[in-house]
Amino acid sequence: MTGHQAAHQPPQRVGVVAESLPGETRVAATPSTVRLLLGLGYEVVVEPGAGAASGFGDEAYSEAGASVGGAWAADVVLKVNAPTDEEIAELRAGTTLVALVAPAQRPELLEALAARGVTVLALDAVPRISRAQSMDVLSSMANIAGYRAVIEAAHAFGRFFTGQVTAAGKVPPAKVLVAGAGVAGLAAIGAASSLGAIVRATDPRPEVADQVRSLGGEYLAVNVVQEESADGYARATSADYDRAAAALYHEQARDVDVVVTTALIPGRPAPRLLTADDVAAMRPGSVVVDMAAAQGGNVEGTVAGRSVVTDNGVTLIGYTDLASRLPAQASQLFGTNLVNLLRLLTPGEDGRILIDFDDVVQRTVTVVRAGTVTWPPPPVPVSAAPPATAPAAPPAAGVSAKPRLTPAGRSVLIGLGMAAVFLLVAFAPAQLAENFTVFALAVVIGYYVIGKVHHSLHTPLMSVTNAISGIVVIGALLQIGHENALVTALSFVAILLTSVNIFGGFAVTRRMLSMFSRGGSR
Ligand code: NAI
Repeated sequence: MTGHQAAHQPPQRVGVVAESLPGETRVAATPSTVRLLLGLGYEVVVEPGAGAASGFGDEAYSEAGASVGGAWAADVVLKVNAPTDEEIAELRAGTTLVALVAPAQRPELLEALAARGVTVLALDAVPRISRAQSMDVLSSMANIAGYRAVIEAAHAFGRFFTGQVTAAGKVPPAKVLVAGAGVAGLAAIGAASSLGAIVRATDPRPEVADQVRSLGGEYLAVNVVQEESADGYARATSADYDRAAAALYHEQARDVDVVVTTALIPGRPAPRLLTADDVAAMRPGSVVVDMAAAQGGNVEGTVAGRSVVTDNGVTLIGYTDLASRLPAQASQLFGTNLVNLLRLLTPGEDGRILIDFDDVVQRTVTVVRAGTVTWPPPPVPVSAAPPATAPAAPPAAGVSAKPRLTPAGRSVLIGLGMAAVFLLVAFAPAQLAENFTVFALAVVIGYYVIGKVHHSLHTPLMSVTNAISGIVVIGALLQIGHENALVTALSFVAILLTSVNIFGGFAVTRRMLSMFSRGGSR
């Protein structure tokens, strides 16, 4: 479909279908995300009862502007779980299906969908890059699931998480160990420490230590150097690492009351972290939540989808539907992720899907295109580290850092720069030369200091640069009326650049705050 054709065509219908998977309580759109879909120009039809298990009645969808009726015949079908064979048979050729389809694990499903002549966007194929974060269903569900894992553990534990000193005696705080500090693990650490527990966490990626601490946990390092990961994901751990980690788990198992395991390396079965011996070493009444139960489990003895109690009285929870246990909010976040994806796919906001295969996110999520399997996509370079080039300040006038220079070109530029500096110092008034020296030193020091600031500290750094900009503006305002035209011109440039920094800083802060404000669903 070309953009030209799309411009003359009527809006497409988005169908929100009911989930058939037993125990599934989520729905792919809520009344508030329906409004956003209408805002993108689509018509929306919701299958009767689709939101019932999440607490959204048909009337709520009608009030939001959707029609209620058969949704499988729509042009775009939104769904949480992969369709069953019967559901695939209901899809029309040419339909775009958006759902979790586990493309890597279910090639036969992709073939069946391709045979139907549809286009499939796999929500579980969204690349983990910053630009796609707002569409990353797996992360938003893992966040909910990590929280819920702690709630399930607290429920089964039967004792306080927080420590108390009461007239009736002292209650010690519970000790919680979280294995794997990815999205789910960090959510679990936050939930457990906010309930007052003593929280420890371990992960082969040492770079998560700061995040663990910022959520109130203690980072337990396994002191075996792991191979560097270039893409932000953990690599399979080495035998040496596994041995040292096994000793750590064995020691911790005797000490902690609750263990939440979330260890995962994409595309592999879940690594085994706790053995039956470790579980046997835990105190009666302790609880283990194995979040990786569906991928084979991190803990020996967990049963996927169930809670079992071992001979020594330890509860092993292997629920695989943790996000669905908070259905309204899970649906809301899921639906918002879907809206963000559709916003990317509807550049004209005209209610027509347009998939751009040159865009890495759109290419990666499209696993079947018009009846042809397009999985696997070309690999997406994902970098955990900030890009090496990126001076924070705007480049100084006349100096562009962008184009690659040949060594000869660089020498010529350096020569010209030195000549310009020499002329300036030789012919300018003494005071200007002095100020210029201070300025040049400030640029060099500033470049190296700011370049070395850890990216987690960029927000405080922004406040500092805003404060400096404020000082510069005052200085420039005092000088702008100077009789020397050069000084006036420099003051003008200084006011312009620092204003960009100050107002830009406010704009970024506002955007960040709006992400936390109620009702700000963008
Ligand atoms: P993630 O990729 O963000 O985090 C996984 C973490 O495990 C990473 O930090 C990684 O470094 C760490 N890890 C890898 N190997 C390890 C090892 N040997 N020891 C300790 N840590 C190790 O993944 P996310 O999104 O946090 O998901 C975690 C798990 O939770 C997955 O298995 C996912 O399928 C599961 N999940 C379960 C749900 C449920 O209802 N039970 C719902 C949502 C997610």
